Amino acid sequence: MGKNTELLIGQTLVFAPKLPARAEHDSRGGVLIRDGVIEAVGHGETLKAAHPDVPVTDVGDGVILPGFIDAHVHYPQTAIIASWGKRLIDWLNTYTFPEEMKFADPAYAAQIACRFFDLSLAHGTTTVASYGTVHAASVDAFFEEASARGLRAVAGKTCMDRNAPDGLMDTPQSAYDDSRALLERWHGHDRLSYAITPRFSPTSTRDQLSALGTLWTENPTCPMQTHLAEQTDEVVWVAELFPEARDYLDTYEAAGLLGVGGLYGHAIHLTDREWSRMGEVGGALVHCPTSNAFIGSGLFDMDRGLSAPMPVGLATDTGGGSSFSMLRTMASAYEVAQLRGRALSAAELLWLATIGSAQALRLDDKIGRLAPEYEADLIVLNLASTPAIAQRAAQANDIWEAIFPTIMMGDDRAIAEVRIMGQRIAPQG
Ligand code: GUN
Ligand code: ZN
Repeated sequence: MGKNTELLIGQTLVFAPKLPARAEHDSRGGVLIRDGVIEAVGHGETLKAAHPDVPVTDVGDGVILPGFIDAHVHYPQTAIIASWGKRLIDWLNTYTFPEEMKFADPAYAAQIACRFFDLSLAHGTTTVASYGTVHAASVDAFFEEASARGLRAVAGKTCMDRNAPDGLMDTPQSAYDDSRALLERWHGHDRLSYAITPRFSPTSTRDQLSALGTLWTENPTCPMQTHLAEQTDEVVWVAELFPEARDYLDTYEAAGLLGVGGLYGHAIHLTDREWSRMGEVGGALVHCPTSNAFIGSGLFDMDRGLSAPMPVGLATDTGGGSSFSMLRTMASAYEVAQLRGRALSAAELLWLATIGSAQALRLDDKIGRLAPEYEADLIVLNLASTPAIAQRAAQANDIWEAIFPTIMMGDDRAIAEVRIMGQRIAPQG
């Protein structure tokens, strides 16, 4: 066997692809990697006996998992994470828009893209779906960095043609033209996907939304990402801006921006009609719990999300979110659900951060699972990364009790290893 083959042995959690979330645990599981792809998953000793010439890496008690998938981030907001603010619109105007202006400089975009991937990878996130800024070069910078690192990644140019500062606006035509040129350059190149990206209805005219709806119809394999019903004031504003619309979701549907492959971030203040319409159509809801707590947006109904027919993903929403860590994000999802009377299990939380987000991105045949033919983007979790976590994990009766303290209290210190297409990378942050 060649040097492109390796057998990883450690604890494994192999999730079933469909809900309800459940996983097979093996305290000495094995993942056989060949040429960057998972070839087999099974018991470590069995795989070792079947492949005696393959080099073995034993991670001991470490838990081998698929890398986390962050289904909604704004990489250009890396440098303004954790900025004090009142409400969404105020926070956007005070911090976000001035920072996004800086991306007119491609060198700044390249610098932040590099910093963003350093931070995300150090936190065990191997795929993100990111917004760029209005500047096409912000998307080039993101994809160039992702490509150099061999990452699977999703991004798009943020389109806005009203209610934003002059330097951050495009037009219906330039949004269409620039997005199309970027899509042709990047979509399907290496491991990259282009996402058509109207920021949200308040910052796009009907003409712009429709131009992007046309582009999506012409390129249906692209994801489409936007924001939906994040704050009550925003929902009221949308009703004022679009008096003809039945509700917020209808502003997207009227423009051809509702469909499979659509990623609708936040989705907190949805009406029953919007829930059932999204279920019929199969667009994905993306839960951003640290952001929703940080900006005071509200409590997403994950109980309803998990029993609804559409995909549901999990995301940091950096920098509205207050952490790069999907562990911290799972902890926040747990707390938000608790406040609505639903205790999410450790299995559900891990499922959301891997398979759930992969399904939302329609990449669930490639990433998010320990299974043959999946790309070997993997992490190893240390379940004793701090004294507080270690002493709780030592009392655990099973893997779920052992992993839950890391979900609730873990951060980048819990990420012992990160692998991209099987290759170990040096975590840096
Ligand atoms: N709604 C529109 N743009 C944004 C953004 O950048 N962050 C968040 N959290 N919500 C938004
Ligand atoms: Zn967002």
